[in-house]
Amino acid sequence: MPEETVTVYQFVGGDGPFSLLVDAFYRGVEQDPLLRPMYPEDLGPARERLFLFLTQFFGGPRRYEAQRGHPRLRMRHLPFPIGTEARDAWLRHMGAAVEEVAISEPARTMMLQYFANTANFMMNQTPETP
Ligand code: HEM
Repeated sequence: MPEETVTVYQFVGGDGPFSLLVDAFYRGVEQDPLLRPMYPEDLGPARERLFLFLTQFFGGPRRYEAQRGHPRLRMRHLPFPIGTEARDAWLRHMGAAVEEVAISEPARTMMLQYFANTANFMMNQTPETP
C-alpha cells in the first residue's frame, strides 16, 4: 500500500480550525494601531483571502489559486511598508491566534516556523525604518 502523507491541513482538522485561526488573527489586527491602517476598512475580504491562502498552503484545497492565481506574496505586500515593527506585530497576532486555537504539535511548530520565515521575507523597509 502506498504511504499516505498527512498534511498539516488534515492533521489540525481541516477548515474549522483554520477559520478560527484567521478570526483570532484579525481580532488582533483590528486592535493594532500600526497594522490596522494598512488593511482595507472592511476586513472580511482580507480574512477570506488569508483563509484560502493558508488552507491551500498547508495542504488543503487549491481554492486560493483558483480565485487569486499565483500567490506572489512578496509582490502583493510591496504597497505596505513592512519593517521590523510591522513584522513583529503581525507575528505576535498570528502567534497568539495559534495558541488560542490550541494547534497541537508538530503542526504548531511547523506553522510558527513558516510564519516567522515568511514574515521576514515580506519585509520591504530598511532596518532603520520602523
Ligand atoms: C509581516 C507583516 C505583514 C503585514 C504587515 C501584512 C499586511 C497585509 C495587508 C495590509 C494585506 C492586504 C489585505 C487584503 O488582503 O486586502 C495583506 C494581504 C495578504 N497577506 Fe499579509 N502581511 C504580512 C505578512 C504576511 C504573511 C507572513 C503572510 C503569509 C504567511 C501573509 C499573507 C497574506 C495574504 C495571503 C494576503 C492576501 C493576498 C491577496 O490575495 O491579495 N501576509 N497582508
